[in-house]
Amino acid sequence: MKTIPPFARRVAEWQRAHGRNTLPWQNTHDPYRIWLSEIMLQQTQVATVIPYYERFLARFPTVADLAAADEGTVMALWAGLGYYTRARNLHACARRIMADWNGRFPPTAAQIETLPGIGRSTAAAIAAFAYGERSPILDGNVKRVFARHFGIEGDPTTRAVEQRMWGIAQGELPPDGPDAADEMRRYTQGLMDLGATVCTRGDPNCGQCPVRDTCVALREARQHELPTPRVRKASPERYTQMLVIEKAGEVLVQRRPAPGIWGGLWSLPEFDDGDADTACRALGVGPIEIVCLPAFSHAFTHFKLHVVPWHVKAGPVRLKDDAGEPPRIWLPTSDLAGAALPAPVKKLLQGLYRRGGLF
Ligand code: ADE
Repeated sequence: MKTIPPFARRVAEWQRAHGRNTLPWQNTHDPYRIWLSEIMLQQTQVATVIPYYERFLARFPTVADLAAADEGTVMALWAGLGYYTRARNLHACARRIMADWNGRFPPTAAQIETLPGIGRSTAAAIAAFAYGERSPILDGNVKRVFARHFGIEGDPTTRAVEQRMWGIAQGELPPDGPDAADEMRRYTQGLMDLGATVCTRGDPNCGQCPVRDTCVALREARQHELPTPRVRKASPERYTQMLVIEKAGEVLVQRRPAPGIWGGLWSLPEFDDGDADTACRALGVGPIEIVCLPAFSHAFTHFKLHVVPWHVKAGPVRLKDDAGEPPRIWLPTSDLAGAALPAPVKKLLQGLYRRGGLF
């Protein structure tokens, strides 16, 4: 009778042959580089992350460079990746590492987890890749692999199911021993790769799976039932109107408050109700011409935002609160590409100004 190797051994062996081994953050054990990649990869696809990762590292090669930067520079390099709290936390982490850890990254997963914005799974992934530490990961992809392979019922975003999965994750780690560090790196990357490329959400590729011989979902043909779907509440809708106020080749932008959506980025002035003319005058801008632009929507994690943009040709300008809160500046339309604007706002403005604008 053939004996089946342990779960972790099969995943690690498969990773060596079939996993992703040439991603830019895989040729290093530098915790700074690994940390940066893990934060960027939260909720974001590998292909999207790669150019941001390379630009970010070229500008901030070390944690000291990042800590010394001002927030605006960090936000500008992050603009377009989304989930901007990640960028603010990253910057705060870099400063904390300089202040509390003498510029050296904390040496264990438990200590990494004390840094701002780093949860248990991310801390474990960083410690596994950088130090080979035997600490389990449990992100969304890994939860799907575990739910199917171990036949775990229930919504994995609930505390009870999550706790059970952490127990399994700990119990399935490769054994301690002389090669444990390398094996941990392989196994951790293997779990991620398996979830991303084989045990996918829609149509898992079970024929390619290294742990198919022991998979409960495959045996019972329940791949499409596991993990148990979350009971979703309808996403709430929000509405706003934005002003694209233009004067002599520049548009008025204001800084979004943090915390909050797009916190720290530059965006357009907004108003809820009333008309664009009144909203402009409240800002100290006398409009000459106002044109309504096509509405657009943007989906955030917890709500959907519907935007009606107005294009305004400014006449006399007596800006209120020019140096106050929120900070406002005139941004040359030729500088849009490098500005720290939310992606949908940048898209709107680039659509307007690529052809020289309306006026
Ligand atoms: N997602 C999160 N971490 C990752 C990694 N190290 N490689 C690929 N995708 C990931």
